[in-house]
Amino acid sequence: TQPLRIALAGLGTVGGGVIRLLDENGALIARRAGRPIEIVAVSARDRSKDRGVDISRFEWVDDTTALASRDVDVVVELVGGSDGPALTLARSALGAGKGFVTANKAMIAHHGLELAEAAEKAGAALKFEAAVAGGIPVIKGLREGAAANEISRVYGILNGTCNFILSKMEAEGRDFAEVLAEAQALGYAEADPTFDIDGIDAAHKLSILASIAFGTQPAFADVAASGIRHVLAADIAEAAALGYRVRLLGVADHGAGGLFQRVHPHLVPISHPLAHVTGATNAVVAEGNYVGRLLFQGAGAGDGPTASAVVADLIDIARGEFGPAFAMPSSALLAQGAADSGER
Ligand code: NAP
Ligand code: HSE
Repeated sequence: TQPLRIALAGLGTVGGGVIRLLDENGALIARRAGRPIEIVAVSARDRSKDRGVDISRFEWVDDTTALASRDVDVVVELVGGSDGPALTLARSALGAGKGFVTANKAMIAHHGLELAEAAEKAGAALKFEAAVAGGIPVIKGLREGAAANEISRVYGILNGTCNFILSKMEAEGRDFAEVLAEAQALGYAEADPTFDIDGIDAAHKLSILASIAFGTQPAFADVAASGIRHVLAADIAEAAALGYRVRLLGVADHGAGGLFQRVHPHLVPISHPLAHVTGATNAVVAEGNYVGRLLFQGAGAGDGPTASAVVADLIDIARGEFGPAFAMPSSALLAQGAADSGER
């Protein structure tokens, strides 16, 4: 059997996790996928950096954006950034008819429609399970598991860094900046952590979830977002005294008035399951007209869980199981205005 040949861009928290996971679980994955998944070429900024994994067995490519020119089936992008080398690589990989797997929610939120069109034109896979809620298979859950349902609402805790900070402030009364530094050291935070604490990362993810749930074009600009920068330990203590916990939630709902997407700190009653989600855990609730209420919960950030989602996408591609990136052909996705008018 022919292996699925991979070029890997980005060897940081998630890229390193993918190499370790394939090293440790490779034989099991080959049985499940029906063929081995093999990394053949890698690229990052600094070739000499010690990454704790042996990369000398792979071809090193200096120019990350040239990875798609290698003899590979799939390019995996774990660099980050909505534009720059990640976008150049996505365009060149899909343009060359290669599969493209990414954890980059910023790029999918901004350029998802263009990339989905390019993938469809080339008959190639575009997959981004790791872009939303880390290791939780929520894209697959909504895109495939709940595909028969009209979804009215999708909401949840979409940023591990913020949930880690809020729950540490709550349990230990600790200072915001000190807990943020800990989240960064654990590999949860974005390269620019203001994306986490100002709600932008959660807004990227919400716009992707909303697209899949409601059949709309991903529209990051339509998400109203604010973060947790101004939440004080005293606010959290006051909320607790009244029977609430503070959680940063992303909420997208589609009703008679149209589609609304927003991210901001919420007071969650202690009786609600989301009040009990702590640490870098994420949780997503979706309400479907036949399935009812679904709750997806698990690790929302970190090397292992995120690598798990990346490799799950690769297994789907190895099996030949992939469809349109956003649950329906890109030509069928509604512009936000059409969704706002209640048209579905
Ligand atoms: P990271 O640890 O900062 O790693 C980024 C990697 O990209 C590094 O290997 C870096 O090279 C390389 N890189 C950065 N700029 C580059 C450039 N201009 N050209 C070539 N290579 C470049 O980031 P990460 O946490 O693994 O995140 C990667 C992606 O996954 C991002 O899109 C992020 O949003 C997403 N994600 C992360 C998590 C998480 O928990 N960390 C979870 C879900 C999704 P050097 O190592 O040589 O500096
Ligand atoms: N910075 C992100 C978070 C990584 O904290 O949730 C996972 O997408």
